Amino acid sequence: MVIAMDGPAGAGKSTVAKLVAAKLGFSYLDTGALYRSSALKAHRLGLALEDSPQLRRMMEEIVISFDGARVLLDGEDVSEAIRTPEISHLSSVISAIPVVREMLLPLQRRIGEKQGIVADGRDMCTVVFPDAINKFFIDASIEERARRRFLELSAKGIETTLEAVLEDVRVRDERDSSREAAPLRRADDAIYILTDGLNAGQVADMVLSMMKATRK
Ligand code: DC
Repeated sequence: MVIAMDGPAGAGKSTVAKLVAAKLGFSYLDTGALYRSSALKAHRLGLALEDSPQLRRMMEEIVISFDGARVLLDGEDVSEAIRTPEISHLSSVISAIPVVREMLLPLQRRIGEKQGIVADGRDMCTVVFPDAINKFFIDASIEERARRRFLELSAKGIETTLEAVLEDVRVRDERDSSREAAPLRRADDAIYILTDGLNAGQVADMVLSMMKATRK
């Protein structure tokens, strides 16, 4: 049983997905963390972010796992290290490389087979879980998304400006939507939710009530 959620950076998908998962007693699958961990590893190894034998080898060897809310890269807890602006940028770059997507696909499907999950990302509804019964596209205006990201980063003590975050979100939107491999797009059968002016709890309630409606 998979509930699939896609949407652009900063739309609040992960908070909503976690709330929905908790309500249903499902696990939460943060697929962005897989791309972020791959980016962190490539960065640490000093690999160029392009299709290369070295990158393929890295992807063959990488072990990413979840321990509750913690993300483990080759056994090391990288939950915080993968959330910096630099890794956000690099994860968007690395996620456009086909070999990276190809190597992360079976891992995501295996997790989805084992248990009830709420999975969020860019291609959950279109590529990874096309047969999911409940599909959502969670959106928000770019200004609202930048504002939310800015507050999130500030709360973590990461120094930045609203303008810099807006620019970063704009660049990531552009790259995530225009790449050839599994670009961000709304699946035809995904329910669209615009979250401007709504908090995560309200969006989670909408998702849950729409799910019930779908099941009738
Ligand atoms: O959701 P996020 O911000 O943690 O994702 C980080 C990057 O990973 C994002 O810029 C695009 C990429 N990504 C992807 O291409 N496909 C996914 N299913 C999830 C994330």
